[in-house]
Amino acid sequence: MLTHRSSVIDDVVDLDRYPIHLVGSSVRSDLIAETRSQMDRYGCFRIPDFIRPEAIASMLEEAGTLHPHTAWSQMDHNPYASPDDPDFPPGHPRRFFQHRESGFINSDLLASDSPLNRVYDADVMTHFVWECLGVDRPIYRWADPLGCNPYGVMEPGHSFPWHFDGNEFTVSILVQRAQSGGVFEYVPDIRGPGQENYGRVQAVLEGSREGIRELDLQPGDLQLFKGRFSMHRVTPIVGPTTRYIALPTYVHDPYRMNRPHHSINYYGRATDLHHQRANLLVDGLVD
Ligand SMILES: [Fe+2]
Repeated sequence: MLTHRSSVIDDVVDLDRYPIHLVGSSVRSDLIAETRSQMDRYGCFRIPDFIRPEAIASMLEEAGTLHPHTAWSQMDHNPYASPDDPDFPPGHPRRFFQHRESGFINSDLLASDSPLNRVYDADVMTHFVWECLGVDRPIYRWADPLGCNPYGVMEPGHSFPWHFDGNEFTVSILVQRAQSGGVFEYVPDIRGPGQENYGRVQAVLEGSREGIRELDLQPGDLQLFKGRFSMHRVTPIVGPTTRYIALPTYVHDPYRMNRPHHSINYYGRATDLHHQRANLLVDGLVD
């Protein structure tokens, strides 16, 4: 029997194939076990056709309608999103800058009954993702009103070069793939705690394909990824088709938001709440 919450998403998530609402069912337990084992091995896993095709079509329609309101940004950055540091020699990964150009359709533009909002608002989804990630501390939906649940947008010629994530994990749902290019590539565990492994990082930046894995995401797939230690990129978009990817974002601290300057750089603006919460020092890190 469906719970109230799951019945809200049964036309969005393929609950027949993936009964994430049936806590304790063997199908759900097996899926979580498989996901965790792949996450341990590669830091990445794809659950195919997780979102029903009709819901993906609806998300695509929403993203297409909102496309004129996309907040575009571009920047040259190194894999660490850190400033240039002349203490390192030329060509070093810390001084290896590549061009990024992409956009966000901010979360606050979505219709309240958008399939993307409905899957994000479902507690069974949050709990399922948490179990799949295998992280110790609980996860929450994010307070950030712009970045909590946006569509990532990439146009022809856009790319997202090699980088490490500041956050521990990323959840995404591909809505529309590019005609070609726009491929997610990653190098599992190319660095580790206390070990930057600059030599291997530099080799990949200079074109080595050693250790690179490709994830051939299809519309409707749910992707789970841990990007703190695995360098990754999205290859340049080729052809006329815009790539849309939904980014339901889960965090350990539901209260903290992007700092205003970060929000302006990536989402085009900051809200009053961003400014109010800007001075919170939760983890003691600069950003
Ligand atoms: Fe990333």
